[in-house]
Amino acid sequence: MLTVRDLDAGYGDLQILTDVDLDVGEGEYVTIVGPNGAGKSTVMKSVFGLTTYMGGSITFQDEEIHPLDPEDIIHKGISYVPQNENIFGTLTVEENLEMGAYILDSVPEDRLEAVYERFPVLRERKDQKAGTMSGGQRQMVAMGRALMLDPDLLLLDEPSAGLAPDLVQDMFDRIDRINDDGTAILMVEQNAKTALRRCDRGYVLAQGENSYTDTGDRLLADDEVRQQFLGG
Ligand SMILES: Nc1ncnc2c1ncn2[C@@H]1O[C@H](COP(=O)(O)OP(=O)(O)OP(=O)(O)O)[C@@H](O)[C@H]1O
Ligand SMILES: [Mg+2]
Repeated sequence: MLTVRDLDAGYGDLQILTDVDLDVGEGEYVTIVGPNGAGKSTVMKSVFGLTTYMGGSITFQDEEIHPLDPEDIIHKGISYVPQNENIFGTLTVEENLEMGAYILDSVPEDRLEAVYERFPVLRERKDQKAGTMSGGQRQMVAMGRALMLDPDLLLLDEPSAGLAPDLVQDMFDRIDRINDDGTAILMVEQNAKTALRRCDRGYVLAQGENSYTDTGDRLLADDEVRQQFLGG
């Protein structure tokens, strides 16, 4: 479904990614792990049209998408939850969710209902300012907003960042359910072992390049990967 080949990308004149390859199949759950600064977020941003393109190809459902801007990419069926600043704090929870459908003329009520069913706490707090929600709740707002258009592919950059351990498991369970319901997931995670255990396939990215690629289980079982990237 998503195919990235030989991608070179960065910011302005600064190249961060070199020859990155990446695949996400229909309904697949794929994780990218790697050290801080490896370029994981840059890969996600590149797929969403937010970096400087320098070479290679990004196709989604057999269509080249790299010259498109984010709004067009959303139309193609990709939604993105950034690592930082992923909600509008001064807007209410419901207004945030409605923003997820800004490219449409009107807010699809059935989608809003589907998001509330997935995250009941958002319905309970729909009139609360999103900036006053807890960390876990904010992450749900951000994910709920990204789900408003029922994407085929959801990009999640560190969805468990800053959450207490019990909430981390809860977040991963929610992501599993979104994937079980048919949405393909491309996720970056600092919680690498847990993420690799749950996903179908994983990529280890280091210094802007592919380092290892395999099923999550095989990456977890690989001594070199464990020692270099997973803390033993
Ligand atoms: N907007 C930007 N302008 C210039 N350089 C940037 C920008 N964003 C990121 N970089 C640089 O690109 C490199 C890769 O950053 P990126 O955020 O992709 O790493 P990451 O793997 O997501 O790291 P982390 O695990 O800390 O989130 C870093 O050296 C970073 O300083
Ligand atoms: Mg990052």
